[in-house]
Amino acid sequence: MSDFLFLSDVSAHYGTSHVLFGVSLRVGSGEIVCLLGRNGAGKTTTIKSVMGLTEVSSGKITFCGDDLRRRRTDQIARLGVGYVADARIIFPDLTVRENLEVGVKKGSSPVGFDWSIERVYDLFPPLRRLDKNLGGYLSGGEQQMLAVGRTLMGNPSLLLLDEPVEGVAPIIVKDLGKQLLKLKELGLTILFSEQNVPFAMAIADRGYVIEKGRIRFEGTMDELSSNEEVKRKYLML
Ligand SMILES: Nc1ncnc2c1ncn2[C@@H]1O[C@H](COP(=O)(O)OP(=O)(O)OP(=O)(O)O)[C@@H](O)[C@H]1O
Ligand SMILES: [Mg+2]
Repeated sequence: MSDFLFLSDVSAHYGTSHVLFGVSLRVGSGEIVCLLGRNGAGKTTTIKSVMGLTEVSSGKITFCGDDLRRRRTDQIARLGVGYVADARIIFPDLTVRENLEVGVKKGSSPVGFDWSIERVYDLFPPLRRLDKNLGGYLSGGEQQMLAVGRTLMGNPSLLLLDEPVEGVAPIIVKDLGKQLLKLKELGLTILFSEQNVPFAMAIADRGYVIEKGRIRFEGTMDELSSNEEVKRKYLML
């Protein structure tokens, strides 16, 4: 397995508050990897560290061998890292189509991906019939599809998703799972954070469990599934 994304011994702070304590994780090309943990465990901070959105005080973060700590967020995005924040920022006064158009990145050099609005609609059929609707009126699940779709329009090869199914209706959670698996089939690599363990179990190849800014478990989803102690201690299962 070649390391696509690699974090080694990453520590991060918010001002004087120390939040990540030596987080190491790796994501191989074509994998779906999840980062599980309870509220405040450090999931968002870890993902933001990759994007250069938190103050990383030590450690190494590389993407395809490129040192991301030396790069700005916009440069990291242009390298092919797509980020969907937990807030699913969409523009409420723009239509679905206009929201997708915003995601186009000029000057990026896609490696094997060439997304268009039509292709996004093929992946997320509910968005097609909402084409002219305003972003502000979408349901939670539709907003998530739109947020992912807009990020895809930038032709990322790595997708970072922060709690993609939080606040999404159960039936749509299933759909989103299938859609993410489809993205994997297309060759995308995905790292996502979640608290919804069944969802993660259904789609991830491997997982990490984080607690209080430290990685407490790493392994396959089968290994996690059979590790009662980790599930009880860190995931409240
Ligand atoms: N902007 C900030 N300033 C100070 N502390 C912060 C900030 N953002 C997060 N923290 C703290 O850092 C720790 C990790 O937060 P983080 O948001 O990474 O957790 P999380 O696992 O994403 O949680 P959640 O499931 O609630 O989204 C928490 O203790 C949180 O209170
Ligand atoms: Mg979070």
